[in-house]
Amino acid sequence: MSRFAHPAGDRHAEVLPEERPPHAPADLNALNPAIWPRTSERINGTITIGGVDVRDLAAEHGTPLYVIDEEDFRSRCRDYRAAFHDGEVHYAAKAFLCREVARWIMQEGLGLDVCSAGELAVALSVGFPPERVTMHGNNKSPAELERAVVTGVGHIVVDSYEEIARLGYLADKHGTRPKVMIRVTVGVEAHTHEFIATAHDDQKFGLSLSSGAAAEAVRRVLALPSLELVGLHSHIGSQITDTAGFEVAARRLAGLLAQIRDEHGVVLPELDLGGGYGIPYLDGDDAPDIKLIAESLREIVANVCRSAGLPVPRLTVEPGRAITGLAGVTLYEVGTVKDVEGLRTYVSVDGGMSDNIRTALYGADYTARLASRASQAGPMLSRLVGKHCESGDMVIRDLYLPADLAPGDLIAVAGTGAYCRSLANNYNYLPKPAVVAVSGGKARVIVQRETEDDLLRGQL
Ligand code: LLP
Repeated sequence: MSRFAHPAGDRHAEVLPEERPPHAPADLNALNPAIWPRTSERINGTITIGGVDVRDLAAEHGTPLYVIDEEDFRSRCRDYRAAFHDGEVHYAAKAFLCREVARWIMQEGLGLDVCSAGELAVALSVGFPPERVTMHGNNKSPAELERAVVTGVGHIVVDSYEEIARLGYLADKHGTRPKVMIRVTVGVEAHTHEFIATAHDDQKFGLSLSSGAAAEAVRRVLALPSLELVGLHSHIGSQITDTAGFEVAARRLAGLLAQIRDEHGVVLPELDLGGGYGIPYLDGDDAPDIKLIAESLREIVANVCRSAGLPVPRLTVEPGRAITGLAGVTLYEVGTVKDVEGLRTYVSVDGGMSDNIRTALYGADYTARLASRASQAGPMLSRLVGKHCESGDMVIRDLYLPADLAPGDLIAVAGTGAYCRSLANNYNYLPKPAVVAVSGGKARVIVQRETEDDLLRGQL
C-alpha cells in the first residue's frame, strides 16, 4: 500500500460486511425478549423499562443515559444461583460495579470477584462481607495484596511466582493465612475475540498447565505455611457461546487435582471455573443455557474425580456479562441524520465511544430501536455513530432504522449493561453518563452523571 496520500474512494471500507450482511428486521418496532431487558415492552408505541417510559427518563435525567432493569439483574442472579445450587456464584465486578450493584449482589447472596483495590473499596464501602470476595489480577500491586490480606478477603487467586512470594511474606507479616487459588492456563481455544480469550498459552494470564508452571506454582504455595491452598482457578475468556471450552477446562482442572493428590498427598476442595458465558446481542445469536452448562460441568468434574478416587470439589463460577449485560440499555438522543447518497445514512447520537467503546475495540455488535415512538416507515440502512472526533466512533456499524427517523428521537441500544459504563472514558471531555435503575414504575439515579466540575477536578 502506498505511504503517500491518495484520493479517497467514495466509501469507508465495504458498504456491508460480506460475511454477515444484516437483513432488515421484519418489524423495526419489535423487542426480541431474548435481547431486551426482561421488563421492557412497548406501550402505545414507546419503550418502557421497569414500568418507566423512556421519554420520562430522558426528560428527567438527560441523555446519553445508562438504564438498568433491576428486576432483570436480580432475576439473572437467581437463575445462576439456582443453576449452581450446590456451588458458589461470584459476580465479576469488572462487568459493571457501583455501590448499589454491590448491594444487589449482597442481597441476592452472590459472592464478588474484584481485580483491583478500587473494586474492593466499592464493595467494602457498602458493607459487602470480605469473606465473600475473591481477589484476581495478573499484576496485583503489593499494596493491593496487603489490602486483601488485611481486610480478610475470602480467596486470593495467585497469577505468578512473584505474587506467591509476596503474598507469603504479607501473610506472615500480618499473622494471617489467606485462602489461595492458583490461576491455571488450561490451553483451551475459546471461540471469541482475541482480546477477550484468556486460556491459550501465549498470553499474560495464569500459569500454564502444559509447561508445568501450574504444578510448580502448587509446589511453591504448599511450601509456604502462611498460605492455605484451597483450589484451582481457570477463566477461558469472555462472550463464549460454545460450551465445549468450559467442559475441556473443567476436565483438565480436575485432572490437575488428581496429579496434586498424587504428588503431594493434598486434596484440594475447590474449583473455580471462571466466567465468560455469552449473551445474545443480535436476533438469532446463540446463548448458552446456564442450567445445561451447570449440569454438564458438574457431571464432568464428578466423573473425573470419581475415576481418580477424589472427592468432588465445590464449584464456583464468576459470571459478569451474563448477569448485567442484558439488564442494561443505553438511551441516546438523535442529533443529526445525514444521508450519504447511495451508501447509507449516518445517524449521530449524543454519546459514542466514550460511553461504549466495545464497537471500536472488539468490533462488537448491538441491536437498537427507535424508542420514543413506534414507526411504520420502511427500513433505512444506517450507521449509528457518536459525537467524537474519530471516524471509528461507531455505536453500531450496520443496522436498519425507520426511514422517518428525525433529530430529537430517542434511540435505545440493548445489551449495554456489561463493559460499557465500566470501560467508559472522557474522550473529548465528555462527562460519563448517569446510571439509572428502573423498577416497579420508578427510576433512581444510582450513579450520577459527571459534571464539568468533575472533568476539571484535580487539574492545576
Ligand atoms: N473472571 C475472571 C477472572 C475474568 O477475567 C472475567 C472477565 C470474568 C470472570 C467475567 O467474565 P464475563 O462473565 O463477564 O465474560 N471488556 C471485555 C470483556 C473482558 C472480560 C475480562 N475478564 C468486553 O467488553 O467484552
